[in-house]
Amino acid sequence: MKSFLELVNRRISCRAYKPDPIPKEMIENILEAARLAPSACNRQPWRFSVITESNKRKTLAEKGILPGLGMQWIAEAPVILVLGIKKSFITHSVATTISGVDYPLLDIGIAGEHAILQATEMGLGTCWIGWIKPGTIRRIVDWPADITPQAMITIGWPAAPMERISSRLSKDEIVKWQ
Ligand SMILES: Cc1cc2nc3c(=O)[nH]c(=O)nc-3n(C[C@H](O)[C@H](O)[C@H](O)COP(=O)(O)O)c2cc1C
Repeated sequence: MKSFLELVNRRISCRAYKPDPIPKEMIENILEAARLAPSACNRQPWRFSVITESNKRKTLAEKGILPGLGMQWIAEAPVILVLGIKKSFITHSVATTISGVDYPLLDIGIAGEHAILQATEMGLGTCWIGWIKPGTIRRIVDWPADITPQAMITIGWPAAPMERISSRLSKDEIVKWQ
């Protein structure tokens, strides 16, 4: 690994995994990278469930996903990380209402991508999953009502070498220097 930009370039959504398990130490590293993320007022609203048990992964894939994208493959990932938000009143209701900025959603995105880049650095494949049924997932992972699932991340060893197929807008299209 030569540079951070190379690591970022290496991250590509992985949608086919080997069944091999991921050593617990690697999962701990991924969670540590997420834990160290910055957050508005340092509220750290993220909560995680690490799902490795195969029946629970199947249940998430069968019941926790919205129809239409054919995402049964997520059950094949040896780890599914469920990301949830636990809101605090001042930062996440009062401040968000005043500014209109969804701080906890920003925070959880940062934490999730920290996790993903740490996994990438260790040679693992990952994919963000946002086409979900939050209420159903909350019941599957047994979270209380004040934690809302927002996304999942599949993690595992890529079944085959990965190549980037998605393109990106050019900097000219997305950046305004002034
Ligand atoms: C918030 C978010 C939600 C996503 N949800 C899904 C999803 O439900 N299913 C899926 O297959 N990919 C999902 N993706 C992956 C995107 O499709 C993918 O990142 C994008 O097409 C760019 O491709 P790349 O990740 O290979 O660079 C999601 C990505 C993000 C950031």
